[in-house]
Amino acid sequence: FNINVQFYIAAYLIGGIPFGLLLAKKFAGVDVKASGSGSIGATNVLRVVKERDPKLAKKLGTATLVLDALKGVVVLAAAYFMGLDNSVLWAIAVLAVLGHCFSPYLGLEGGKGIATGMGVMMFMIPIETTIALVVWAVMAKTVRISSVSSLTGVLALLISSFFIHPEMPHAPVVFIVFILFYKHIPNIIRVIKGEEKRVI
Ligand code: G3P
Repeated sequence: FNINVQFYIAAYLIGGIPFGLLLAKKFAGVDVKASGSGSIGATNVLRVVKERDPKLAKKLGTATLVLDALKGVVVLAAAYFMGLDNSVLWAIAVLAVLGHCFSPYLGLEGGKGIATGMGVMMFMIPIETTIALVVWAVMAKTVRISSVSSLTGVLALLISSFFIHPEMPHAPVVFIVFILFYKHIPNIIRVIKGEEKRVI
């Protein structure tokens, strides 16, 4: 096997680990797929566990966020130190997000890709990702809807990348943003109907 292919497989398999689902089940005894938004990400872990134990919810939500964000980063870091090409790194980034959103361990279901997406983007384009996080934080404080904050941040990342790195290949970024939006379609419908829950 070509070394690149091994990294691609690792990115997909590691990206697919549903940390939120595992942590919430083990430490709070709840199934996040069956409650709240049914998502396996940090937001839903926080939302679902909060009903039982707000302190534990914060811990598990944070752990989910950090672990999901690191999934792609560890593979990217390893590939980077092996001296692999930037195009290979971008493919790893895409596959880690695909693994999270279409997990091989959950019958190709999965999360919405914000934490994993932001993690790989922080590695690849940190300036744009920092802008996205600032936008996200402002939206989270004002609008207080997780999905709206996430998607606004993602859009800020995409738009700023055209200005900050006009020369880079934008296809992987566009593709990741497309997956993230695709996964948020139920959220977008709820937002339009005015039914999307606030986390706090
Ligand atoms: O990052 C996920 C967030 O944007 C939405 O999560 O659980 O509210 O669908 P949730």
